[in-house]
Amino acid sequence: MKRIFSGMQPTGNLHLGNYLGALKNWVKLQDDYECYYCVVDLHALTLPQDPATLRKAIREVACAYIAAGIDTNKSTLCVQSCMPAHTELSWLLSTLTPLGWMNRMTQFKDKAGKNRDLQLLGLYSYPILMAADILIYQASHVPVGEDQKQHLELTRDVAIAFNNRYGAYFTIPEPLIMGEAARIMSLRDGAKKMSKSDTSDYSRINLTDDADTIMLKIRKAKTDPEPLPDTLEDLAKRPEAQNLVSIYAAMADRPLEGVLREHAGETFSTFKKDLADLTIAKLVPITNRMRELMADPAEIDAILAKGAEKANALTQKHLKEIKERVGLWV
Ligand code: TYM
Repeated sequence: MKRIFSGMQPTGNLHLGNYLGALKNWVKLQDDYECYYCVVDLHALTLPQDPATLRKAIREVACAYIAAGIDTNKSTLCVQSCMPAHTELSWLLSTLTPLGWMNRMTQFKDKAGKNRDLQLLGLYSYPILMAADILIYQASHVPVGEDQKQHLELTRDVAIAFNNRYGAYFTIPEPLIMGEAARIMSLRDGAKKMSKSDTSDYSRINLTDDADTIMLKIRKAKTDPEPLPDTLEDLAKRPEAQNLVSIYAAMADRPLEGVLREHAGETFSTFKKDLADLTIAKLVPITNRMRELMADPAEIDAILAKGAEKANALTQKHLKEIKERVGLWV
């Protein structure tokens, strides 16, 4: 069976971009792949975190996975810092990665802004830890949103570098970037990605928002004054409109064309009402389930402990094989 690895950072609330760009697809893939879904807590440390808040956020992300439909009888749920093989492989991969490859990473450039010298080494080297996350499982497929594409390309390059140096070992993973929702944009600015770090809460819909908040955020979402167009070509010229129609299509599991055909000519106030109703119908049950799961932390902790056991068995086996190839003392 082909193997999947993917993960999310436990930083702040998960939002609609995380759900539509990744989590919703993870659920669909469970029957056809052996899936490892991880809460990547070490990645969260690339920004300052309060320890108690981080610990709670790790559990909350695990609850979100289950509430969204990850079935723990089919898929393995685990927390990155419970599997030391991830970080050990990360070091080995860093010895094969030219600085030039790292310097190309656009996400680092965006996050670092002008003050590059003040940024932390972890934020810079984070794509290597991500490569190790994936490669230590010999994952064949990695379902992610569009923003992770460049990191996946780096992962493939590093895997090839290892295979060339030490003999073919790593599976070269394929990104799975799926559907209309691979890049959900901010509700306030169609040129900016929906993100946890945006200072405006109105820019995103959080998985913890209640129905009234979702309704309000969609009503306030930025749009232009024109009604919905009837062609994809015209839609593509209007980023905010395109974002809302893409969200609708992804929520309804329908192609963009079909949604446009049905809603062409409508005003955005009418369309936004439909979009809000659909979003509420899909998200509120997830939010409620998350709340129930959070009320029983012992159950979540037991699921994560079982997941770590399985993930450690696999990753330690691979790490031993890798160390033997590299000539380390095992
Ligand atoms: P993170 O935590 O930023 O995001 C988790 C997942 O959500 C997707 N995503 C989006 N998709 C569509 N539109 C958006 N606006 C949007 N925002 C986020 C991301 O593409 C991602 O799939 N580096 C990764 C975490 C990671 C990882 C891994 C992923 C660490 N190791 C190994 C896959 C495999 C990250 O920061 O994702």
